[in-house]
Amino acid sequence: MLNVAVLISGTGSNLRALLEAAAAPGFPARVIAVGADRDAEGLAHAADFGIPAFSVPFRAFESREAWGEELATQLRAWSPNLVVLSGLMRLLPPAVVREFAPAIVNTHPAYLPEFPGAHGVRDALASGASQTGASVIQVDDGVDTGPILAQERVAIEPGDTEESLHARIKPVERRLLIDVVRRIAAGDLDLSTSAHPAH
Ligand code: GAR
Repeated sequence: MLNVAVLISGTGSNLRALLEAAAAPGFPARVIAVGADRDAEGLAHAADFGIPAFSVPFRAFESREAWGEELATQLRAWSPNLVVLSGLMRLLPPAVVREFAPAIVNTHPAYLPEFPGAHGVRDALASGASQTGASVIQVDDGVDTGPILAQERVAIEPGDTEESLHARIKPVERRLLIDVVRRIAAGDLDLSTSAHPAH
């Protein structure tokens, strides 16, 4: 059984989908802890599933590095086999990436390397592109620059707003994330090799 820790910042709807998938009989991974960089609304999903939750408020620390040290201490206590960033809107300090790599993955609401960063949906819409997408990547020290593990296109419809487009992207993200976690847990996807074909 693969033990997964999930980090969030917001509503945690993708986290909830992963919790539901992992609760199904036969799923080869389980969520063992959920953490956040703030008092995130999505921490309530962990409580619903009886899973421990913790918060390491970014603003309570003097530096990103100090925050990262405490975050790593909290994560380490659960000895996760995989760390999933599911809407964590903070860049992890290099020391945290180093400690948990290669087993850290991140979901992103765009077809990377297009539209990286904190406003992937807004930036895609503003670009005038006719399509964007969803990606699951391995985390490295860059901003959404790690190897792509899975991705899929999503059409941008006339009249789309950031909200309507994001609402169509999220179900795709959820499906990709659950599939990536399943493949890692089943041994079909090896994060210790450097490059991975997207599918
Ligand atoms: C998701 O779309 C996730 O990809 C995005 O935040 C959303 C979280 O939604 N993450 C990023 O943009 C990271 N750059 P949720 O809290 O409802 O799961």
